Amino acid sequence: MPKHFLMCRPEHFAVEYAINPWMDPAAGADRDVAIRQWEGLKAAYEELGHRVSLIDPVDGLPDMVFAANGALVVDRRVYGARFAFPQRGPEGPAYLRWFAERGFDVMEPEHVNEGEGDFLTLDEVVLAGTGFRTDVAAHLEAQEFVNRPVVSLKLVDPRFYHLDTALFPLDGRNVCYYPGAFSEGSQALLRRMFPDAVLAGARDAEVLGLNAVSDGTHVVINAEASDLQLELKRHGYEPIPVDLSELRKAGGGPKCCTLEIRGEE
Ligand code: ARG
Repeated sequence: MPKHFLMCRPEHFAVEYAINPWMDPAAGADRDVAIRQWEGLKAAYEELGHRVSLIDPVDGLPDMVFAANGALVVDRRVYGARFAFPQRGPEGPAYLRWFAERGFDVMEPEHVNEGEGDFLTLDEVVLAGTGFRTDVAAHLEAQEFVNRPVVSLKLVDPRFYHLDTALFPLDGRNVCYYPGAFSEGSQALLRRMFPDAVLAGARDAEVLGLNAVSDGTHVVINAEASDLQLELKRHGYEPIPVDLSELRKAGGGPKCCTLEIRGEE
């Protein structure tokens, strides 16, 4: 099943503030390299037969390339983002406007949430992260709007500040995750909900290997996550490695650059 993704070309990408432990403004990042790597990710999706739509980047919003944070889209219903840090504040309305202009049913959120960075949609349930960015009150707000049960998971390691840095859906029913990013209780819950999950180790998590996008067959994943690629192969998935090392300097990987548009046609 082809997917539809929204992406934002990193034309204004930079590391000029630090809102997560990956970001070092003194070290900066090379925008041209970031653009080239991002083009590689977009091409990988298109070669797999997925459709990519683009939102115009906005000058002064260096993190806008991380489209996953722009909203949560389920069955054409778009729950908007409300960012935890003021540096990214204007991205929420910019993404919501893109969807409103295209006739989607949009909702302006009351509570702080960073879209698909912290909300990951499976067939029957939405998994939601909290602890660093998204307020737990937003989990209920999203549940009321998208009409799927939302399960809260507590993140405890600041390097894995969004749910999508620690877990990704393999398909509509199973997930891959790094247990160390979660509280004891959330680890127990994940074991119970997903007894057949693929587990990743610290080395893969530390290169943002969990920030991956699966279509149920192929897994687009950071090239450096080599152990996890082997593990995915053992489980019958085909890893599609991409190099997004420049974007990782802002704390992002393939999934961060990708917002899934669900429920069209
Ligand atoms: N610099 C961005 C931030 O800290 C990176 C966002 C990464 N996005 C994601 N979906 N994990 O907000």
